[in-house]
Amino acid sequence: MNQLTGACIIGQSGGPTSVINASAQGVIQTALREGCITRVLGAAHGIKGVLDDKLYDMGQEDMAELDLLQYTPSSALGSCRYKLADPDLDDTDYKRILEVFKKYNVRYFFYNGGNDSMDTCNKISKYMQKMGYECRVMGVPKTIDNDLNGTDHCPGFGSAAKYIATSCAEVWQDAHVYDTGTVTVIEIMGRHAGWLAGSSALASRIGCGPDLVYLPEVDFDMDEFIASVREIYERTGKCMVAVSEGIHYADGRFVSEAETSATDGFGHAQLGGLAAMLANEIKERIGAKVRGIELSLLQRCGSHLSSKTDLEEAFLAGKTAVEAAVAGQTDKMVAFECDRSNGYSCVPVLQPLDIVANIEKKVPRAWINDAGNGLTDAFIDFVLPLVQGEPDTPRENALPRFARLKKVLTTDM
Ligand code: F6P
Repeated sequence: MNQLTGACIIGQSGGPTSVINASAQGVIQTALREGCITRVLGAAHGIKGVLDDKLYDMGQEDMAELDLLQYTPSSALGSCRYKLADPDLDDTDYKRILEVFKKYNVRYFFYNGGNDSMDTCNKISKYMQKMGYECRVMGVPKTIDNDLNGTDHCPGFGSAAKYIATSCAEVWQDAHVYDTGTVTVIEIMGRHAGWLAGSSALASRIGCGPDLVYLPEVDFDMDEFIASVREIYERTGKCMVAVSEGIHYADGRFVSEAETSATDGFGHAQLGGLAAMLANEIKERIGAKVRGIELSLLQRCGSHLSSKTDLEEAFLAGKTAVEAAVAGQTDKMVAFECDRSNGYSCVPVLQPLDIVANIEKKVPRAWINDAGNGLTDAFIDFVLPLVQGEPDTPRENALPRFARLKKVLTTDM
């Protein structure tokens, strides 16, 4: 293996998580220690920062503030949803990226994101190879959606799952106080995959789980939904429902899509408003008192409920990416191989970017009950190890002390 000497760039992309900055910390602090990495640059707003030559010199940050990154939710460097064109149709962006890479002698590129970001990472990797520019490109996984292919699970998911299960259990307590009837609908993120909404069922292990759970893996039928809610409500006086934002009818139309028409850079519909919409439907057709709750951004930035396991694995993913790249690896994403047969163990492995980019991993149908409105024990046993442990979050005036980065932009001409 030849030693490759040069600068590195780390970028964050897509929707943030409560532990994505632990991965950034893993990349930045490991890269700062590697002799062959001459400079550590942070891209402002992911690949857009490279295109705009807006790069932070991470070497100028205080080490103590970098240490706090792991307790700081959301993307500290800024994120983006920017789709690179097919290079055979339009290579403008790629030429610009190569120009910026050459300007700073960038020989290592770490991109921290989910499906769409791995598409970006893969395209850049292949373009650099095609142009004969030696640069080691590594994907660092993150997504609360847990839908990346080739890995047991994704950093960010365990913490969001813990937030969701805890919030559902807390709401369950509140939703059961009155002696009058109530229906509660909780809307959970996850777009096309139901891992997050399914995690609400973890609350059932402590006796406070939702009565019904709806995932995008099963076609939604409004009449069947109303019938199931009615049956539970009439029998018990209460009904708590967890729904994925991505539930859709058999013809593919999102149940919530009517509420919003905005799309992001990758053409994904901006989902939301589903809880309120279903609450209205229930109120009109059943006549119950209904509350619709959208967990929205809280579920992906709620670092006060982060999982220590998730946080440590997120850091490990970043650290592994740098160590593997320095050791000669490129064109890969860090993935996890886990064993749950005797306790829980997790080791980082590398997967080719080709098998990761643009493939969405769904909840297996066998882990959803036959009626399509609940989860099996196999699902819960899969998720439970990922939510374990509480990080020792630093505090200031009883509030979390997040990292305060200087974010010094490079001024190279
Ligand atoms: O990145 C994952 C995710 O959090 C999805 O669960 C959600 O649908 C989407 O991002 C929301 O994206 P945005 O923050 O761009 O509205």
